[in-house]
Amino acid sequence: MHTFLIAALTADGFIAKDKNQNSTRWTSKEDAAFFSEKTKEAGVVVMGRTTYETIGRPLPGRLTIVYTSRPLEGCSPETLRTTELPPAELLASLEDEGYANVAICGGASLYTQWIQKELINTLYLTIEPVLFGTGIQLFTEEIRTQIRLKERHLLSDQTTVLEYEVQP
Ligand SMILES: NC(=O)c1ccc[n+]([C@@H]2O[C@H](COP(=O)([O-])OP(=O)(O)OC[C@H]3O[C@@H](n4cnc5c(N)ncnc54)[C@H](OP(=O)(O)O)[C@@H]3O)[C@@H](O)[C@H]2O)c1
Repeated sequence: MHTFLIAALTADGFIAKDKNQNSTRWTSKEDAAFFSEKTKEAGVVVMGRTTYETIGRPLPGRLTIVYTSRPLEGCSPETLRTTELPPAELLASLEDEGYANVAICGGASLYTQWIQKELINTLYLTIEPVLFGTGIQLFTEEIRTQIRLKERHLLSDQTTVLEYEVQP
């Protein structure tokens, strides 16, 4: 199983201005296309309830799994599920279903939990030419993970994706 974290960051290191902000409001169309391509390849996306509410619907063509302790409208096994499973257990059950790649799509709370459990293999960090000054950072707690730059994907003259491998 290969698990990747995918996020868009401002040039000053934020993933959002506040909890209610939908990321597509400030990210580029090139990043939207990159996100769509990578998550469709995986077939399954995992996100926290707050992020899901900024989107408001399951992502088309992908199974959307939402971490939440509360019921969510519109669930169906093929398109939208909720979970409270420990990350390793969720991965094992997805592997049993035949998934080989899983996209961890945020927000900060989800990114932090998954990287702290050492379950992320790759990070795709899109850097957009935007400044917030204050806001929500990628992680909410101390992280000890070592990473190595594997590739730079130039999406346009303004937007780059940094692909990092997590070191064992
Ligand atoms: N720039 C980007 O690439 C990017 C990507 C994703 C998100 N974001 C931004 O990030 C912000 C949201 O991040 P966030 O950290 O505040 O929230 P979040 O991670 O999206 O969601 C947090 C919520 O998820 C649920 N949850 C988390 N861990 C859980 C667990 N182990 N078990 C059960 N439920 C769990 C809880 O919901 P309940 O209260 O329902 O239990 C919790 O309140 C938004 O502004 C969003 O736009 C940016």
